[in-house]
Amino acid sequence: MNIQIAPSLLSADFANLNNDVKKCERAGIKILHVDVMDGCFVPNITIGPVVVESLRKRTKLILDTHLMIKNPENFVEPFAKAGSDWITFHAETVLKPLEIIKKITKLGLKPGVSINPLTPVSKISQYLDKVFLVLVMSVNPGFGGQKFMPSVLSKVRELRRLSDKSKNKFKVEIDGGINFDTISDAVGAGANIIVAGNTVFRSKYGIKGSINRLRIAAKKTGR
Ligand code: DX5
Ligand code: ZN
Repeated sequence: MNIQIAPSLLSADFANLNNDVKKCERAGIKILHVDVMDGCFVPNITIGPVVVESLRKRTKLILDTHLMIKNPENFVEPFAKAGSDWITFHAETVLKPLEIIKKITKLGLKPGVSINPLTPVSKISQYLDKVFLVLVMSVNPGFGGQKFMPSVLSKVRELRRLSDKSKNKFKVEIDGGINFDTISDAVGAGANIIVAGNTVFRSKYGIKGSINRLRIAAKKTGR
């Protein structure tokens, strides 16, 4: 299986963002994970469309935009305009998921849906044929550097089975607490996009060194 590591900019140096982005590019990264928080759905505030707009001017990497916000439908257009490529909303925040999926798709972007650690796969099963990716949170969203919750691995396994047997081979992304030890369990369970913040941007090995170490550790699963 093709495994992609998506560095989460939340742990990058915001005063030197472009520098960190270029280091990711040089390490062969294809996807940057952009965490958007509103201080309402989650207890933290991060970045908005203006930052995506600036990033878009500097990089061609896929901007994987993770909306941890209430009323995400209001921000689909602004992020699309700013240059996001993928937009993922939280299943816990919407009453009409199909409408927002349609909105994202119509704008030519890839739609994703995310579930918190305690949200079951059944909450999203009716529209798995319409999403490009499912993002499984392996920490409670809000902050980088939290501890991986192995209890979510059964959902990753379930989603991998569902993706493999469906026509719409949606990607299974995992986000939160990924490090050199936990990555093998996540990949072994079937995740193929691996978000990592602190491990990429704050480890002693540097950005490139950490990404390489994550890639090596990911291969230890036999998938
Ligand atoms: C958490 C965010 C994550 C976070 C991951 O709410 O959605 O993307 O940045 O950071 P680490 O890898 O440090 O847990
Ligand atoms: Zn995220």
